[in-house]
Amino acid sequence: MDKINIGLLGLGTVGAGVAAILLDPQGRHPLLADMALRRVGVRSLHKPRALHLPAGILTTDLVGLVQDPDIHIVVEVMGGLEPARSLILQAIQQGKHVVTANKAVLARYGAELWQAAREKGVYVLMEGAVGGGIPIIHPLKQALGANRLTRILGIVNGTTNFILTQMEAAGMDFAAALATAQSLGYAEADPRADVDGEDAADKIAILATLAFGVQVVRDEVYCEGIGGIEPVDLQYAERLGFRVKLLALAQRQGEALDIRVHPTLIPRSHPLASVQGVQNAIVLGGDPVGEVMLQGPGAGAGPTASAVVGDIVNVAATLRANSGYHPLLGATGAIPTRRLPMDEVHTRFYTRVLTQDRPGVIGQLGTSFGRHGVSLESVVQIGRQEELAEIVVVTHQVREGDFWLALEEIRQFAAVMAIPTVLRVWS
Ligand SMILES: NC(=O)c1ccc[n+]([C@@H]2O[C@H](COP(=O)([O-])OP(=O)(O)OC[C@H]3O[C@@H](n4cnc5c(N)ncnc54)[C@H](OP(=O)(O)O)[C@@H]3O)[C@@H](O)[C@H]2O)c1
Repeated sequence: MDKINIGLLGLGTVGAGVAAILLDPQGRHPLLADMALRRVGVRSLHKPRALHLPAGILTTDLVGLVQDPDIHIVVEVMGGLEPARSLILQAIQQGKHVVTANKAVLARYGAELWQAAREKGVYVLMEGAVGGGIPIIHPLKQALGANRLTRILGIVNGTTNFILTQMEAAGMDFAAALATAQSLGYAEADPRADVDGEDAADKIAILATLAFGVQVVRDEVYCEGIGGIEPVDLQYAERLGFRVKLLALAQRQGEALDIRVHPTLIPRSHPLASVQGVQNAIVLGGDPVGEVMLQGPGAGAGPTASAVVGDIVNVAATLRANSGYHPLLGATGAIPTRRLPMDEVHTRFYTRVLTQDRPGVIGQLGTSFGRHGVSLESVVQIGRQEELAEIVVVTHQVREGDFWLALEEIRQFAAVMAIPTVLRVWS
């Protein structure tokens, strides 16, 4: 093999970042000088592009690209489910290694792709799919291989972390903070995948698969976004010693997998509480390593391209070494597992209740929670909204199903006007 030839699917934010590195190998890993960007697949040949590519390599024939016998590594950074999934499968069938940053495809079809890759003796590498520039996939597969991994906690979506940081620091409401994120290019015009928690759910599904070697059914990942959070909740959280973050979590509970994404009150002393703006961070818990936190830029052209090209270098190294199948580069995740139902999750809760301002209401709340076995850490009337009392309840660790039964009962009380917010609390 003369040069290692790369076929790039997509020349958008990430693809342009990847191409820029491949075209400028000076001072980087020596293997990069051994590669050639052979073809670049896009939707439109006429779109203006900032990057100057070698003549004739841009194409709209994506099938031709993945079937080109001269291409050794296919890099998929086009996004979306189809045709990305089919093109990755075709590349594998052609015996090509694949590097992708496509978390949506991996979270839904990872098992199918990894199985196909194993059968063909090729790799599907995906460092860019989670955490942007943070090396997280390779540490999970390689450097932490000695550990029994027990838990993953992450702030894995920069858009929502930026919005929450703005809401907290500048006292903005959700809509204003989202508009700021959009004006700075941190949120898409259609921000639903980010603010509804779906992007974070894709990422925690991938991480849980790798950390625990289990099959995660993407649709079963419990997912709650940040759209319902009001500035007053962030203020109360701060007074109680917390910051609110969109937390992605996966942990073993016996034979079941507890996997979920939701806004969470995190104690200000926890390292994740100080992760601000578009930064991402992931805490891995393992035996015997203890807790390891990795933090960095979670998205963007440069950071994501850094991760994608790192994968390309890894594959190139195995090609040059002419070695057999490298077990640490392949992915596992074959064992079926039961997802822990949300009712069985044990967590602490924060809830804000608006009630008529009359004696005995706090006692009524306490009695109802007590009847359902929900023990309370604090019940405080912090403020008022017009004529209504605003009561903030923080529970101890309780069974989620019991908490919701109590809350349904409380909702029926004549004095209870609204329960605007329920958030989980990390401890
Ligand atoms: N942006 C980030 O910071 C980031 C971070 C981590 C992971 N990712 C992942 O990386 C992937 C790419 O994201 P991106 O932000 O770079 O996307 P993007 O800016 O929208 O670029 C997509 C590229 O793919 C091409 N493309 C898309 N669909 C196509 C189709 N059906 N046929 C031919 N070409 C097609 C587009 O062609 P045209 O140029 O002709 O339109 C464009 O060049 C996604 O899976 C995303 O989740 C992105």
